[in-house]
Amino acid sequence: MQIRQLFDPESSTFSYLVWDTDTREAALIDPVQAQVDRDIQLVRELGLTLRYTLETHVHADHVTGSGLLRQALNSIVMVHENSQTKCADVQIKGGDFIPLGTRRINVVDTPGHTDSDISYLIPGAVFTGDSLLIRGCGRTDFQSGDASRLYHSVRQQLFTLPGDTIVYPGHDYQGRCCSTIAEEMVHNPRLGNDKSLEEFVEIMNNLKLAPPKYIHEALPSNLRCGVQVSDTATTRH
Ligand SMILES: [Fe+2]
Repeated sequence: MQIRQLFDPESSTFSYLVWDTDTREAALIDPVQAQVDRDIQLVRELGLTLRYTLETHVHADHVTGSGLLRQALNSIVMVHENSQTKCADVQIKGGDFIPLGTRRINVVDTPGHTDSDISYLIPGAVFTGDSLLIRGCGRTDFQSGDASRLYHSVRQQLFTLPGDTIVYPGHDYQGRCCSTIAEEMVHNPRLGNDKSLEEFVEIMNNLKLAPPKYIHEALPSNLRCGVQVSDTATTRH
């Protein structure tokens, strides 16, 4: 499988195009609406068929490109069943796997940042959304976030992966692109091996962050896959 990391500078969001090199079937993880034209062009240039868009969770900081990509490329929108995203074509959950050509993407539940977080696992790499960031993690103070759930998700679902598994996060704000499980186990200042559950919860309860700038637009829009309700009637699914 091949991976192409893509970046939206406005929201510091990473999207990931993942494809089976044999069949050229592709999935796009966490597409950003503002980058849909770029992504469609790339899919076409690489001669790929976009089978799916996969959300790691319902985002509060940017609008998803999933609905527009579905209209343009007939891709199937997949979101966690807890998210109640009615526009999704398929509701998924931990333990599911998504066939991609001759390969598959495994779905792992990693709730805590929200109650609908998924990490996507392929051989040698994991796409962690906001559950595990490089030297950090997503906030847990809204969208049914729960610091203690996030701690257990990371420790039990992610830190049990082989240490050389590459971590591809949902965001980075300091110019880093990826990490590894082993690196985060040692160096993550919130979730590293030296941090107890109590210490983590204490850190997360005292972040005192302002709400994301676009949360009031992004959340309702993302529950409609980023498109108006009337637009969805014209789509295949
Ligand atoms: Fe998030």
